[in-house]
Amino acid sequence: MSTLDTPTATLPFEPYRELDSAELTERIQAVRSQMGKELLILGHHYQQDEVIALADLRGDSYQLSKLAAQSRDCRYIVFCGVHFMAETADIVANRPEVLAGRDGWRVPVVLPDLAAGCSMADMAEIEQVENCWDELSEVIDMDRVVPVTYINSAASLKAFCGRHGGIVCTSSNARAVLEWAFERGDRVFFFPDQHLGRNTSMGMGIALEQMPVWDPFADELGGNSEEDIRGSKVILWKGWCSVHQMFRPEHVEMFRRRDPEIRILVHPECPREVFELADEFGSTNKIIQTIQQAPAGSRWAIGTELHLVNRLKQEHPDKEIHFLSPVVCMCATMYRIDLPHLCWSLENLAAGTPVNVIEVDDETAKWARIAIERMLDIG
Ligand code: 13P
Ligand code: SF4
Repeated sequence: MSTLDTPTATLPFEPYRELDSAELTERIQAVRSQMGKELLILGHHYQQDEVIALADLRGDSYQLSKLAAQSRDCRYIVFCGVHFMAETADIVANRPEVLAGRDGWRVPVVLPDLAAGCSMADMAEIEQVENCWDELSEVIDMDRVVPVTYINSAASLKAFCGRHGGIVCTSSNARAVLEWAFERGDRVFFFPDQHLGRNTSMGMGIALEQMPVWDPFADELGGNSEEDIRGSKVILWKGWCSVHQMFRPEHVEMFRRRDPEIRILVHPECPREVFELADEFGSTNKIIQTIQQAPAGSRWAIGTELHLVNRLKQEHPDKEIHFLSPVVCMCATMYRIDLPHLCWSLENLAAGTPVNVIEVDDETAKWARIAIERMLDIG
């Protein structure tokens, strides 16, 4: 069934820090050749160049969840991304019908560094979300509220959505998901990213006054009045991305002053003030496609993670590409996945001693899968 060696003791990480990139790359390639099709390395677009170059498949959050769901041949997944992405991969790659087709083999999903989390996902904990739901139920009819969680959230929040008739969204399908939700209820409870929720809802004609923000640390009703909640269409969680919140309207204005023809392209996790000034927006994959399809000589300032923007610059020397902020905005947790961690986790896998396996418990996975599959059905 597998090319793995007989298990021995786990290989320690420390010696890998001493190796140079060339040796690490060579050893990673050796494991890839040894394990062949049994191994699938998935990589998010925000990964460092030397890491993404070693991924079998790359994508944005939506594509990676789809790729993991379609991964019927592989026996092991190594996820070069962040924790919530590895959890999602475990949930969809190990759904019961696929497990049965693999004679019960559960694909271990390895996150090369367990410290690769997402600060936004950490801003909403399940107890806080449940408390919010209970508090809201004292003011509004919760049967008509549809919970929507951004995929950047813990599996327990996705399970919450599964249990309450809700759904998951990504940055590439947020609008279609909100339309789905409004076909099933009068209000949406959106977490954890207020910006994605607000930017998408405003594009659907929902007024700012109909979008109260729920602060989980406020004493009562998330810092809102009963009227705010009764008058709401979308209740937004007070969460944000520490990387995208650093893009400011002044940055857009500075580029436009210097070059009135420049196109501003941003990720929808950017604050509303930036999003509204932008010419175009989209998920990381949409940003890549937009630049690929842009005419030679076109000029762009892009508001998303630094590694992706730098890669676009290198890959499109015929276009002028700028990073939208004068300060470095990079995702420090995505950056945790480096060659030493990738090599260490792969060599342990090949040695039969998998490390950093992300496993969602069956009950949580069952409900989270319902919410994820609702999203995958929409596309
Ligand atoms: P994408 O959905 O564009 O992959 O974005 C994920 C993410 O974490 C952006 O910060
Ligand atoms: Fe999370 Fe922001 Fe990093 Fe994306 S860029 S993984 S939302 S911290």
